[in-house]
Amino acid sequence: MTAVDQYCVMGNPVGHSKSPWIHARFAALTGQPVEYGRRLIPFDGFAAALQAFAAEGGKGCNVTVPFKFEAATLVSRRSARAALAGACNVLRFDGGDLTGDNTDGIGLVHDLQGNAGMALAGRDLLLVGAGGAAAGVLGPLLDTRPRRVVVANRTVDKARALVAGHATLATANDVALESCSLTDVTGCFDVVVNATASSLAGDAVPVPATVLKPGALACDMMYGPAADGFLDWARSHGAIGRDGLGMLVEQAAEAFWVWRGVRPPAAQVLAELRAELAA
Ligand code: ATR
Repeated sequence: MTAVDQYCVMGNPVGHSKSPWIHARFAALTGQPVEYGRRLIPFDGFAAALQAFAAEGGKGCNVTVPFKFEAATLVSRRSARAALAGACNVLRFDGGDLTGDNTDGIGLVHDLQGNAGMALAGRDLLLVGAGGAAAGVLGPLLDTRPRRVVVANRTVDKARALVAGHATLATANDVALESCSLTDVTGCFDVVVNATASSLAGDAVPVPATVLKPGALACDMMYGPAADGFLDWARSHGAIGRDGLGMLVEQAAEAFWVWRGVRPPAAQVLAELRAELAA
């Protein structure tokens, strides 16, 4: 009998996580011997939880709120994209070593380019927000070689700091990278990505509709009711609204690749998950 390798998602809260469902489908569809659970971790217990899982023979885990930044400080090695983001959402146990990666950004890029059909090279992108979610995606967005990327945030200093940390990558990719406050955004954009928690707070969309080019793609990194306000706003102004479910499945697919060296059929699983959530 083939031994089954153990993975899980660690977070707090974690009960809502779709990751166990997604990885169970990936395992079934690829025939990989993978079992994937969820662990609710006390706020002060993340390092101990990792040690315990490694001691049980766990092969790797996803990390979600609020442990992504702490995860980046506990690993012995980090991928370049995790180092740039300063956060890890994927950990791999290699013997005594703990390797950290970040697949959020490539997940967003795969969803926008692959599933939504928006090639990003040469485009103008607006990233709204400068917290952890924005930090996780900016590097992979720059690597698609858009023309211009503006990071707009309520607290403009955070946008400036995020942009400063990515200046070298922007130059290498020939991207005009700028920061500004939410009220100072100039021009209009092919793609607008909402990486703020504004809709969670029940607040209005934090930028004016003039940022949207006709037919722009407007993506909220949330899904479910939390994304509805932003998606309604986008659609009512002629944009194509997209929630974060595709990004979620695509970041999981990249994690599966990191762990197993096998690419699961992400588009199929995304369609299945949408049907499941609609039912
Ligand atoms: P996350 O890890 O989800 O990104 P975070 O690091 O706390 O969480 O960042 C939250 C982001 O949402 C920040 O960009 C925050 O803006 P500030 O940096 O000014 O705090 C943004 N945000 C939260 N509530 C908002 C609101 N009501 N309007 C606009 N931006 C908001």
